[in-house]
Amino acid sequence: MKSQLSDRINNLPVSATLAMAAKARELKEQGKDIIGLSLGEPDFNTPDFVKEAAINAINENYNSYTPVDGYPELKDAIINKFKRDNNLTYDRSQIVVSTGAKQSIANVAMVLLNKGDECILPAPYWVSYAAIVELAEGVPVEVRAGVEQNFKITAEQLRAAITPKTKMMLFSSPNNPSGSLFSEEELQAFADVLADYPDIVVVSDEIYEHINYTGKHASIAAIPSMYDRTVTINGVSKAFAMTGWRVGYIGAPTWIARACNKMQGQVTSGTNCIAQRAVITALEAPISKIQYMIDAFAKRRDLIL
Ligand SMILES: Cc1ncc(COP(=O)(O)O)c(C=O)c1O
Repeated sequence: MKSQLSDRINNLPVSATLAMAAKARELKEQGKDIIGLSLGEPDFNTPDFVKEAAINAINENYNSYTPVDGYPELKDAIINKFKRDNNLTYDRSQIVVSTGAKQSIANVAMVLLNKGDECILPAPYWVSYAAIVELAEGVPVEVRAGVEQNFKITAEQLRAAITPKTKMMLFSSPNNPSGSLFSEEELQAFADVLADYPDIVVVSDEIYEHINYTGKHASIAAIPSMYDRTVTINGVSKAFAMTGWRVGYIGAPTWIARACNKMQGQVTSGTNCIAQRAVITALEAPISKIQYMIDAFAKRRDLIL
């Protein structure tokens, strides 16, 4: 019988990360000594001060639908975080809270890409990027950077990859999987190239911002010429050991934020109310509260190196 499933799902690759995690689990069950490095999953518990905020939210009867794009108080905490850590100034109309940074990225791809539009993906990249672009009917365009260039593409490579179909560029810095970080100068070089192509939107995934052992983290949106054409993605999964709470967010030009709000309103609505309340507390805390995790990851990294 002909498959009744859509081409969309038939053509979608299975998540490579989840397949690797399953393989690791299988080998562990066979008694093999396996260290799983597939899922970016901190093995710490969510910090107690964040857990307490969630318990308080339950007791205070936070149980209703929230605004699709997030509680205003959470947006304010995100605005303050962007200002404090990234020198980025947003207002509430520019923030959308989603069910994980993964949904944030999917929203942006869905609202920006038409069928056949190209999205430049500096490689190596987080495996979900290409699948998300394809789900949005876009075309992922890989631009490769090997170990000899520290896994970072150059501005010249970016220029060479741009075509009249290019609509988006999506990358993470610090990078998953390599850990490489684009410096301010390297981001400026991208901005200089992109000045010739004003219709390309940059999506900068900064979810590993605090798990960074390479140099000073910089946000491309903080370059004045890039602010109006960059979506900055972040979330609490990694830095706060909150992967299962599912809260991510964007800071974006208002027209993109509004479109993401509209998209999300027809798919999931606002993310979980308890998790949102807890994230207000997480984001308002100084980074020193999570330093013990950052230090532990550094020790493990050094050991592996
Ligand atoms: C680079 C990158 N971006 C985004 C995500 C998704 O994060 P979230 O748990 O907020 O959906 C991950 C998770 O592995 C990631 O590695």
